[in-house]
Amino acid sequence: MSRLDSVIRRLQAQRACIDWAVGEIAGRPGPVLELGLGNGRTYDHLREHLPDRAIYVFEREVRAHPASIPPADHLFLGDLADTLPAADLPAPAVLVHSDIGTGEAASNRTLAALIARHLPRLLAPGALLLCDQAMANPAWQRLAEPDGVARDRYFLYRAP
Ligand SMILES: C[S@@+](CC[C@H](N)C(=O)[O-])C[C@H]1O[C@@H](n2cnc3c(N)ncnc32)[C@H](O)[C@@H]1O
Repeated sequence: MSRLDSVIRRLQAQRACIDWAVGEIAGRPGPVLELGLGNGRTYDHLREHLPDRAIYVFEREVRAHPASIPPADHLFLGDLADTLPAADLPAPAVLVHSDIGTGEAASNRTLAALIARHLPRLLAPGALLLCDQAMANPAWQRLAEPDGVARDRYFLYRAP
């Protein structure tokens, strides 16, 4: 598969998973968390499809498109190793989208383990997690991917 094909499939998977989750959380209160702002594309998609939700973003260095930068009071700026354990939300989160992977498998695993350890205290019961990495929290139930998303391209979980 060419890298172009790979990027297209990744973006399609992100959109399909986010669109599925938007329907799943309808009627359930709580903010949304975006781990890894990047260019801000998925943040913008979440914002467009969840206009009435508070969306809190965790990012170590903001380099997003200017139109996709969250307000300062909804941005946890710094490394997740510092911001996630210290974060204080006004309410438990009902949906988390985490797209923090790099090309290095070992650092991806370290970061995924950190997220799996520190995220649970921020979650509402039954919160959904959409992740670009497999998460090692045995309490989280792995869910099937939405139609059209290949197995292991994205990882979906439901918190207890
Ligand atoms: C692939 S990009 C996210 C792309 C985004 N979903 C989009 O649609 O534009 C990953 C982002 O995660 C951030 N990131 C990676 N590791 C991090 C860490 N340990 N703490 C905070 N941010 C991190 C990077 O700085 C980068 O901006």
